Amino acid sequence: MTIIKIVVLNGSPNGDISVTMQYIAYIRKKFPEHTYEILNVAHEIRKIENDTGLWNKTMESIRSADMVLWAFPLYVMVVCSQYKRFIELIFERKTEEAFAGTYAASLSTSIHFFDQTAHAYIHAISDDLGMKYLGFYSADMKDLLSGEERTRLEKFTSLLVTAVQEKMPVQRENAPLVWPSLAYVPGKEQKPILAGTKKVVLLTDDDGSSLNLAAMTDRLKKNFSGSVEMINLHDVNIKGGCLGCCQCAYDNICVYTDGYVDFYKNRLVPADIIIMAGQVHDRYLSSAWKQFFDRSFFKGHTPGLKGKQVGFVITGPLHQIPGLKEALTAWADNGGCHAQFVTDEVMSSGELDALLDTLAARLVQAAGTGYIPPHTFYAVGGHKIFRDSIYGGMRFVFQADYRYYVEHGLFDFPQSDLKTRVFNAILIPLTRIPGFRKIVFADLKHHMIEPFKPVLRNA
Ligand SMILES: Cc1cc2nc3c(=O)[nH]c(=O)nc-3n(C[C@H](O)[C@H](O)[C@H](O)COP(=O)(O)O)c2cc1C
Repeated sequence: MTIIKIVVLNGSPNGDISVTMQYIAYIRKKFPEHTYEILNVAHEIRKIENDTGLWNKTMESIRSADMVLWAFPLYVMVVCSQYKRFIELIFERKTEEAFAGTYAASLSTSIHFFDQTAHAYIHAISDDLGMKYLGFYSADMKDLLSGEERTRLEKFTSLLVTAVQEKMPVQRENAPLVWPSLAYVPGKEQKPILAGTKKVVLLTDDDGSSLNLAAMTDRLKKNFSGSVEMINLHDVNIKGGCLGCCQCAYDNICVYTDGYVDFYKNRLVPADIIIMAGQVHDRYLSSAWKQFFDRSFFKGHTPGLKGKQVGFVITGPLHQIPGLKEALTAWADNGGCHAQFVTDEVMSSGELDALLDTLAARLVQAAGTGYIPPHTFYAVGGHKIFRDSIYGGMRFVFQADYRYYVEHGLFDFPQSDLKTRVFNAILIPLTRIPGFRKIVFADLKHHMIEPFKPVLRNA
């Protein structure tokens, strides 16, 4: 039997005191014949970024691995901003070779709210690094408490180990990204759109590295006649990423005393239209954007920006990264917002002018009517996950959420619907009578459209 070296990249801001690391500890106990090195890259991100010696040592450990295990908690549908920063640094410092050719797998803990987008992200990153990605394990936070789930985890680990020992071939799934070639030069400005009383905020993470991003936001800013506040995330006093301490869960008060909460409450919440502009960095937006999303967790699982028109204005190959588009769309859907997208993946500046101008017009129009689309599976499913968790296992910690859910009637369990319960209690027993069942089931189509008749009659 070949002993393999597993390097675990811990993506929890909580470092060793992490739920995810309990799963790693379990794997170590069950597979003691292999060697393990755990690198707390999310918790230590500041040091790793600023201390070249530590950075080099980290890369050296990765070079020595037979398998890298990306082990992380889900943070707002992906990984936390600190882990994202670590991944950015790999590409910025051109140390992809430290990872290339090595086997990789990912393991997350979460409550399964968009775990698929997180693993799709890590899978694509592994592909971009030239790694041999073997698969992912998405555990519910509490799975380790169940014997059946522990057995499942052991089976997964043993499959990984065998694949590495037998040097199994792996197919790359994510094609390399092709960056849009347009060098955007805005044309003649159109007449500004009357935003009326609607407040527009243009939020960007422009760091001077993308001419297209600056030109796109500039065009948009000039598109509105009313007040447009342009905010650069780098100018907001944000001291760091979410720490995952969950102290905010009691009363929505974040432990940080920087400018984030004030910015969120006093500059974003009053807006009707929020344009979120950014550049694709690896397979997501920047870690600055990720930090923005993670820090909004001080609002727990409640829709802090509900009812906003959101325009995502992105430079880079968004449409080659379905997981990113999905995460942003689902973020808006779950937040009760209406999202529209424009990217610079077009053939000409004129085309981009027209798309940006139209976006401005459509955002104002939708804000005027107050249009928010009906929820899709993203938010319908998300609501049920949150509702059940906040009612049950998470209630003790997330007491602010619980109060919000009570106040807003969000504990809409089917068993609370008296009409349906009475209907089922009477009619289900009746269907055991063959004659009754025959009549009802023969005409189900008509029964299903019956309730709509009065609505259509009175429309
Ligand atoms: C800021 C923040 C964002 C989170 N976002 C998600 C999420 O999008 N989906 C999910 O299922 N769980 C989410 N969670 C829950 C964590 O993934 C979960 O609690 C995890 O087990 C924590 O692991 P750790 O102790 O190793 O950090 C989030 C938690 C925090 C603090």
